[in-house]
Amino acid sequence: PSLRMDPRDGLLFEDVPVEHIARELGTPCWITGAGTLRRRAADLKAAFTARDLPMSFHFAMKAQDHQATLRILKDCGYGVDIVSGGEMARALAAGIAPEAIVFSGVGKSDQELRAAIAARIGQINVESVEELYRLAALAEEAPSSDGFRIRVTLRVNPDVDAQTHDKISTGRADDKFGIAYDQALSLYVEAQKFRAIHVIGLAVHLGSQMLAAEPFRRGYERLAEMVRALRSQGQTVEIVDCGGGLGISYRDEIAPAPDMLAGVIAETLGGLDVTIGLEPGRWLAAPTGLFITRVIETKAGNPARGTPDFLIVDGGMNDLARPAMYDSWHGIVPVSPTLAHDTLKPWHVVGPVCESSDVFARNRPLPTKLQRGDLVAFLDAGAYGSVMSSTYNSRPFVAQALVDNGRWSCIRKRQSIAELIAAETLPDWL
Ligand code: LLP
Repeated sequence: PSLRMDPRDGLLFEDVPVEHIARELGTPCWITGAGTLRRRAADLKAAFTARDLPMSFHFAMKAQDHQATLRILKDCGYGVDIVSGGEMARALAAGIAPEAIVFSGVGKSDQELRAAIAARIGQINVESVEELYRLAALAEEAPSSDGFRIRVTLRVNPDVDAQTHDKISTGRADDKFGIAYDQALSLYVEAQKFRAIHVIGLAVHLGSQMLAAEPFRRGYERLAEMVRALRSQGQTVEIVDCGGGLGISYRDEIAPAPDMLAGVIAETLGGLDVTIGLEPGRWLAAPTGLFITRVIETKAGNPARGTPDFLIVDGGMNDLARPAMYDSWHGIVPVSPTLAHDTLKPWHVVGPVCESSDVFARNRPLPTKLQRGDLVAFLDAGAYGSVMSSTYNSRPFVAQALVDNGRWSCIRKRQSIAELIAAETLPDWL
């Protein structure tokens, strides 16, 4: 519904012609769909309220960190899950209340922890014994006249294989994340001795782009077991933070609806009288983003070897890194209405970056008549898209637009080459 082909204006995203934005902002550029985001935010919540689960939702802003996205989600009742001091500053700048911020991440610096304590954010998910001691000491040092104690959960590593891409799996014993399951119970009991922190529950995150129910079930069952064990020892457990991970269909994968996750959570944790936290990133944001590029050149393949022609676009792996990093598949759609009914032929779709891995798709069936100057849109680029961009090859960060059911606005201007090199200095002996 948010994307459709108009016979006159070409590809429309939330009723705004993509061609129009590309002409105004130049290419490559990102487009974020506000209406799509609101709809998904509401759908995700609805799946859980239908089951009467006491929930708190925190958007994993690493997936898409523009303040406009955070503001929209705030208005839908979402807090944010952060992983750095920079994300905290952005979230606060976007108007997110400190209480609605959860801090995850395997390596939080002293400076970041101090800032989080000073801002009195809602929750810190501690990832190791060492970090717990360090946090307790920092909290002790922090000035507080009213007896404020920062709320803490222990992130448990449940040793469950999320059955996803190796590079986005986080819950196996050998992954760097979380406190070993066997240590977490005694640490939880011990942690009650610290006066300046308030240990309120457990957290887990198994992996990302998860499509099967079973790993979720195994992970959450292990947490439920731990909650029962802690309570039998007289401990209070108020919160279980279930992390993110719900996958989407990029190609033809059968992706579960949020109701699957809600069902698994209801069955495993529903009866425990705990508030259930969720930290979705991809599911909310991925379908809200397009990456728009223009064809620089169509380069003939090697006919003797049967190599298809190359479609060289002006966006590269420095902008959209996912295909190069995770071999991920993104839909590719021509923007012009005149190409919509053309015959298809296989193309290698590549970027201009000087790396063999700067390939978006191989043998992708796309219109035969694609030519220099045509626009092509990459779909489902709203999560882990613009946020993972770099300036490799001295390619500046590109512009971003927000469309909102018929209207649009530039929400980040293209970085200039002057800005790109402005922070550099030359030592005086050169
Ligand atoms: N909570 C924690 C502690 C996480 O580490 C993550 C993601 C999330 C929540 C959100 O997970 P999601 O709902 O988005 O699956 N760059 C990779 C994905 C990395 C995910 C890292 N952690 C990609 O492009 O596929």
